[in-house]
Amino acid sequence: AYVVAEPCIKCKYTDCVEVCPVNCFYEGANFLVIHPDECIDCGACEPVCPTKAIFPESELPAQWKEYQALNTDLSGKWPNIAEKKAPLPEAEEYKDKTGKRAELST
Ligand code: SF4
Ligand code: F3S
Repeated sequence: AYVVAEPCIKCKYTDCVEVCPVNCFYEGANFLVIHPDECIDCGACEPVCPTKAIFPESELPAQWKEYQALNTDLSGKWPNIAEKKAPLPEAEEYKDKTGKRAELST
């Protein structure tokens, strides 16, 4: 499955949602996750994310390994999102920031 990692936090551009053929994205207050059992590994979402937050599980950078479990856990708790919406107001400001893990609202 594909995994959403830290760069999405406080941005949530939702371009990924629009291209996913199986609607397997789930939405929190300031982050999205992918349901690992629903993702069909099509790869459509990876290139459209403006923050480059999405990776195939096998290519998830080591410093973001934790996000694999976060996608699994949070996709079971959060509501599905099937339509693109406006990014968060602070998206441009946070797009290239690192160290956003503590800001993740669960
Ligand atoms: Fe959806 Fe394809 Fe991305 Fe999986 S890889 S989340 S199926 S767009
Ligand atoms: Fe997040 Fe990128 Fe989607 S910022 S909402 S993973 S397009």
